[in-house]
Amino acid sequence: MNLSVIQFESLFNNKVDNTSKILSYINDIDSDILVFPELATSGYYFTDKNQLSKIAEEFDGDTRKIVQKLSTDLGKIIVYGFPEIYEGRIYNSAAIIFPNPELSSVYRKTHLFYKERFVFEEGNTGFNVIDFNGLKLGTMICYDWRFPEAARALSLEGADLIVCPSNLVTGVWQNVMSARALENKVYIAVSHKIGTESDGDDELKFNGESAIYSYNGSYLANASNDKEEVISTEIYPEKTRDKSFNEINDIFKDRRPQYYK
Ligand code: ACM
Repeated sequence: MNLSVIQFESLFNNKVDNTSKILSYINDIDSDILVFPELATSGYYFTDKNQLSKIAEEFDGDTRKIVQKLSTDLGKIIVYGFPEIYEGRIYNSAAIIFPNPELSSVYRKTHLFYKERFVFEEGNTGFNVIDFNGLKLGTMICYDWRFPEAARALSLEGADLIVCPSNLVTGVWQNVMSARALENKVYIAVSHKIGTESDGDDELKFNGESAIYSYNGSYLANASNDKEEVISTEIYPEKTRDKSFNEINDIFKDRRPQYYK
């Protein structure tokens, strides 16, 4: 099974150009799973809810309809971040699109970062794993990485691969993602953005370095910090399912949850 992560510069408040770029990547990349960054259709740094509401769409909106058709026709799993409007509220969401449309679903970012709190609602989907064609896929978004519970919840549900559409603004996440992969024995794919966006004098720099981690925490592929690029690797989902790492220890069976909060 081939996995690709697309690192690109989504343009602020420009759904037309961002979506057309996403669609051309979907057509061009010959891969089973394609992962795009957080808020890939809209850009990131919204602080005005009214402005954001104009670019937000329902999960079942026009973008999903086009992406769903491509997913079904091409047999690809496609994950992309978008601002979702649902029951009058706006969520920082990821669309998880499977060739089989009834499996397609949405994840709403659980932990909101910085000024996201001014414009988005806290996500209410929880962490879910979807089983398709021998792959158990879990999704979290960006700042969810600071909460080990996110990757652990997905892993306990059986995820082989955790995808993490992101717009990261610090340089401290790389080692943590590697640890999340190792401690849960899962693949992790971080799809990040490049470029800068600002709110007045407050500038955010997105420093790329998108990465795919193996279930032993090592890099399988990683990207530059300043270029649009696609990184790809083969993954073997079934290899994540035996949680032992020697003949005695098993990272799930050895847990002592009665001692954890
Ligand atoms: C982030 O959650 N976009 C840092």
